[in-house]
Amino acid sequence: MHFHRVDLLMCTLRLHGTLVALAAAMFLGAGSLMASDPDRVDERVRELLGRMTVAEKIGQMTQVNGAGGSIPDELAEAVKTGRIGSILNEVDVDTVNRLQRLAVEESPNGIPLLMGRDVIHGFKTVLPIPLGQAATWNPDLVRRGARVAALEAASAGVNWSFAPMIDVTRDPRWGRIAESFGEDPLLHSVFGVAMIEGFQGEHLSEHGSIAACAKHFAGYGASESGRDYNTTNIPENELRNVYLPPFKASVDAGVATIMASFSDLDGVPASANAFLFRQILREEWGFEGFVVSDWASIEQLSIHGLTANDRESAHAAVTAGVNMEMATSTYADHLPGLLQAGEVDLELIDEMVAPILRTKLEMGLFENPYTDPESFPAMSNPDHLAVARELAEQSIVLLKNDDRVLPLDREKLTSLAVIGPLADDGYEQLGTWIFDGDETISQTPLQALREFLGESVSIRHLRGLETTRSRDTAEFEKAVSAATESDAVLVFVGEESILSGEAHSRADIGLPGAQLDLLRRLGETGKPVITVIMAGRPLTLGETADATDALLFAWHPGTMAGPAITNVLFGVEAPSGKLPVTFPRMVGQVPIYYAHKNTGKPATPETFRHIDDIPARMPQTSSGFVSSHLDAGYTPLYPFGFGLSYTEFEYSDIRLSDERVPMGESITVTATVQNVGEVEAEEVVQLYVRDPAANVTRPVRELKGFERVRLRPGERREVSFELTAADLAFYGRDMRLTTEPGSFHVWVGGDSNADLRATFTLSE
Ligand code: BGC
Repeated sequence: MHFHRVDLLMCTLRLHGTLVALAAAMFLGAGSLMASDPDRVDERVRELLGRMTVAEKIGQMTQVNGAGGSIPDELAEAVKTGRIGSILNEVDVDTVNRLQRLAVEESPNGIPLLMGRDVIHGFKTVLPIPLGQAATWNPDLVRRGARVAALEAASAGVNWSFAPMIDVTRDPRWGRIAESFGEDPLLHSVFGVAMIEGFQGEHLSEHGSIAACAKHFAGYGASESGRDYNTTNIPENELRNVYLPPFKASVDAGVATIMASFSDLDGVPASANAFLFRQILREEWGFEGFVVSDWASIEQLSIHGLTANDRESAHAAVTAGVNMEMATSTYADHLPGLLQAGEVDLELIDEMVAPILRTKLEMGLFENPYTDPESFPAMSNPDHLAVARELAEQSIVLLKNDDRVLPLDREKLTSLAVIGPLADDGYEQLGTWIFDGDETISQTPLQALREFLGESVSIRHLRGLETTRSRDTAEFEKAVSAATESDAVLVFVGEESILSGEAHSRADIGLPGAQLDLLRRLGETGKPVITVIMAGRPLTLGETADATDALLFAWHPGTMAGPAITNVLFGVEAPSGKLPVTFPRMVGQVPIYYAHKNTGKPATPETFRHIDDIPARMPQTSSGFVSSHLDAGYTPLYPFGFGLSYTEFEYSDIRLSDERVPMGESITVTATVQNVGEVEAEEVVQLYVRDPAANVTRPVRELKGFERVRLRPGERREVSFELTAADLAFYGRDMRLTTEPGSFHVWVGGDSNADLRATFTLSE
């Protein structure tokens, strides 16, 4: 009943445009009738669907690219006539509000627009790339970072972020690994949910909340050879056990939308994959939000070779359950004809449109379609910068620290050489996907070092190389002299932003250009060389590590790179980041990841023989038949979960609440961790599990829990993890989620090689 009042009101408003704002405000004042009231939403959706024309319905299924601060006549007309449900990439507040006004006040049913944007790791304030955020192993901080991003984006009129990207990937060649949380399903689930909570807040309709989008459904991270957009072939068992769990967790956390992947999954590109959207997402998981295609991914179905033309593509995507088309117009162009020909029925269209309307209602967009930047905290205010700094600080992973060259002691330093193409580049420290990032507010390492050290330390700064890819060594001599004249050398190298991200895959993941040569030349001075790497992916760092005394991996840290790195270098905060992805020795080892299967012939130190140790003409049978590479071995350079500190942590006394646990009861695993060094620091305590005999082979280890603890020198803490049958469940041969009785091993430690083990038995 109440909603009829809204409709009547809306009709009146359309007739008397100038009274709109006043009347709407009065109506809003009436309170409690709002369509975002959960009990009313479905009724309101049905009622709207009952009044919309077919063209308006297809309009809701259509998303177009914005014009960047203007509204061309064609766009205005399309919005006014209800031919568009969403616009992406429009972040000019006035333009957003004008567009919303056209939709709300002039379109036939006054349906507001979803304004989408890739808010991947911050907005104006740039946070570390998601892979860096994952290295914090701190979901609460990631949630706070996403809230900062949401507030800044919402103040610009964005109400929908195309994040988080929760594509598990085990291929550092893939440029989009930068946008991911690494190689592990649990990390993706935990951080994906944290980001969703940060974006969406307690409720979607809250001031400052924006809708999240879990992407890309599904399997994109398995692109063959890490080449972007490439084919993926993922057996269903692996899909369900590895690639889908983060999406399930996101759906359970109430993610508003899901994006289809560009990729071809076992011969059926995701945007036409009914198994993914109908069977798994809707039937098995009960997802009630909506699915958006990726950019032109419906049109691309014919390029994949699945369909013969756009008409067939529109048919394939809509029947598979893709609710909204991004950027291209196969739905707008062909759904009317498909309906007329009876190849698609109106029921299907209503089914596709309903969740889009429901999302808009739940977001409170009907009541609050406009943005008032004044009602938000200022962009990049000190609180936002503090969160960005904390995230960057906790993301930094210490990979090597010979002779405890770090932390540097400012009292003992008189001079410092600061070298490298990334030492003072406010743009390159930001990483990929920074459409709205502001490089002018970046605080670079050089600036932060100058500020931290003041006049007491003289800093000699040289780029050494123009970019990370440069091969021109002309400045090397000067860099070497600067190093020779200084007490210590800080080198900032890695990858420029453009070397990772979408469509920026690499086949060689070594340090680009002549950066390794630069490091070696600096090392010849005999001065302590400390290398800080900024990059969008794991790199093959064996030779780099050899050429330097200390190695910090900082990912692309964002706006606050400088203060974060400086704090870690000088021990204001001890490094506490842990790798969310394995670092290979050589690219030929890829994919190499900690949760691999054991194989029938696993290598061991006793059985493996390196290529250099094999005498000429050795008989084929004389070395072990084990799973390894003759030249690279079978271990990575740095394992998953790894990261050093300025102190050491000792693990002991692993205990179980019980050694036999009946199915359905939980078990508690406890271990003691002690800070046995001299500085206060944080450690990420990790729990791994193995099911050694199961209906399908299971990984040698799987991360099942983690906790960040802060310990003073000498302090010890008991850390407990609870494991339930659900934590031990997996998809077996029948593709059902089951927990099998039997024995399980558990390990607790500071990385995926943890050796403190216990075993329990789960009984029927
Ligand atoms: C990417 C998506 C992104 C979209 C919109 C596509 O190319 O794959 O992740 O959200 O563009 O910018």
